[in-house]
Amino acid sequence: MKADIILGCQWGDEGKGRIIDLYAADYDVVARFGGGDNAGHSIVVGSQELALRIVPSAVMHPDVELFVGGGAVVNPQTLLDELGRLAAIGIDTSRVKISDRAHIVLPHHVTRDAAAERERGSGAIGTTGRGIGPAYVDRVARSGIRFADAIHEASAETDADTAVVLEAARRLAPHVVDGVAYIHERLDGGKRILLEGAQGALLDVGYGTYPYVTSSHTIAGGACTGLGIGPGTIGRVIGVFKAYCTRVGAGPLPSELHDERGEKLRRQGGEFGTVTGRPRRCGWFDAVAARYAVALNGLTNAIVTKLDVLTGFERIGLVTSYRVGGRSAGFSAAGEPDLQTDVEELPGWSEPIADCRQIADLPATARAYLQRLQEVLNVPIEMVSVGRERSQLAR
Ligand code: IMP
Ligand code: MG
Repeated sequence: MKADIILGCQWGDEGKGRIIDLYAADYDVVARFGGGDNAGHSIVVGSQELALRIVPSAVMHPDVELFVGGGAVVNPQTLLDELGRLAAIGIDTSRVKISDRAHIVLPHHVTRDAAAERERGSGAIGTTGRGIGPAYVDRVARSGIRFADAIHEASAETDADTAVVLEAARRLAPHVVDGVAYIHERLDGGKRILLEGAQGALLDVGYGTYPYVTSSHTIAGGACTGLGIGPGTIGRVIGVFKAYCTRVGAGPLPSELHDERGEKLRRQGGEFGTVTGRPRRCGWFDAVAARYAVALNGLTNAIVTKLDVLTGFERIGLVTSYRVGGRSAGFSAAGEPDLQTDVEELPGWSEPIADCRQIADLPATARAYLQRLQEVLNVPIEMVSVGRERSQLAR
């Protein structure tokens, strides 16, 4: 049995949460492999809306085991709060397990995150302010504290704020497991495992729009290092693409629209950050970025989300190529100050599509747009979301 991956292939906020919620019905375990409470996944089931930060997006499936791998950095208080909110609506949280190798986000990480942003001045990254970067810095510097350390070792002398967080980490002890044994027992036992990406491929610390990135490996390779499993255990790699692009925080967004069309995308798409409430920058689908993400992740399949948000645009743009100084350029040129983009325009549609459940039922122009995305991605698009609710999907 192989483990499948679902991950975001733009700058995060592709709508992975609801896709994972849907696919989770076919799995026994859903595991996160990186990031921390910088992530915000929203899931809408009927009238109920859940915003998750650390717990994998499969909580609504009572029989699915939920795991946070060693590649993640966890703020114990955020997790305790989240578990409390889930328990309050009747969700069994005892099946949430955390790897003993996961690092703990401490108060000084949050302070350092804010200080580093201040120091960067006009070059600020626009982090979520959760201490994620400094927590990963300490992990690599070999000075971090893992759950294993907090639970099994007497704590060294610490300040009062840190002591509170370490105490919170100890309260999570019933959830902490040997993360490598946990995942391998399940792989060996033939369990069906789904690996949930956080953020998006273009925010990857090594291959994203550096330095405007997060501090973890968000691409498919990060699933192996974040869980301690080999590449041979990976089955399908499913990439989630929004039908247009958004980005929260600073950094390159080559297809960004600075006019009323961008505002319309933001308004129709409800493009405001789940974690910080910040308005997201919006632009057309970027084929150069998308092809780069297909390559980075070795995608086998794709899912397109929020197609309904494009309803009512007379013409829909698609960035097909980049140029710098008149010469064709690849995604690595995304941050060049004199970057120019070529935009192809496709006819839009005005009919509401939220009730379509089959791609064949979509307006002809919507199908033509998807067909174009399919050509660009060159991997099969297996599903399209047409609304926020769990059932609003067309295949
Ligand atoms: P950090 O991860 O808080 O250090 O933020 C680094 C960059 O990644 C900033 O531009 C954030 O806005 C962005 N970012 C981090 N997590 C997410 C996410 O879950 N969705 C979208 N953007 C994110
Ligand atoms: Mg999000």
